[in-house]
Amino acid sequence: MENVIIKKASKNDIPVILDLLYELGRPRPQNNSEVKRFESKIIKYLYDTDKQIIVAKLEGNVIGIVCIMFLSRLNRKPPEMYIPELVIAKKHQGKGIGKKIIEYCVIFATKKKCHRIRLESGNQRTDSHKFYRKIGFEQSSLSFTKNIS
Ligand SMILES: CC(C)(COP(=O)(O)OP(=O)(O)OC[C@H]1O[C@@H](n2cnc3c(N)ncnc32)[C@H](O)[C@@H]1OP(=O)(O)O)[C@@H](O)C(=O)NCCC(=O)NCCS
Repeated sequence: MENVIIKKASKNDIPVILDLLYELGRPRPQNNSEVKRFESKIIKYLYDTDKQIIVAKLEGNVIGIVCIMFLSRLNRKPPEMYIPELVIAKKHQGKGIGKKIIEYCVIFATKKKCHRIRLESGNQRTDSHKFYRKIGFEQSSLSFTKNIS
């Protein structure tokens, strides 16, 4: 765990970022053009000042990612840090890496003068709910979804 480095992602990390997103249950691309489309979305993300992908690296290999968005809320001057994705590779879970990457986010959010960090976690992810509670997050809302397609 001490050897794990937390840093901003680079273009070279894209293939592993995609793998980890599939591990999280995000849709797999069906053909090469979809792979290209996913890759270019990640590249846009890397260059967007309101977004960030942070990786956890062990001996140069990406073993976890967290994606971050800075959202501006109408009724608040300070931004909100929103985390749409967090995943640690299965064989590295339970070793303190998720906690370490979130601690990095807390420092980052503080530097950016955010008023809070917010995320959603599916009802079925009961293990991750325990993780978030353990590291100091509170359940503050219910999330409602209407699928369109
Ligand atoms: C959820 C996830 C990010 C947690 O990361 P992790 O590296 O496995 O968790 P850590 O080892 O850093 O755990 C930090 C603390 O939470 C506790 N914790 C983690 N999972 C737990 C669980 N299922 N039940 C109880 N406590 C748990 C740990 O015991 C640890 O406590 P400690 O600080 O007292 O030792 C990771 O397991 C994961 O990627 N899961 C699959 C994808 C996922 O669910 N992502 C979240 C989507 S919303």
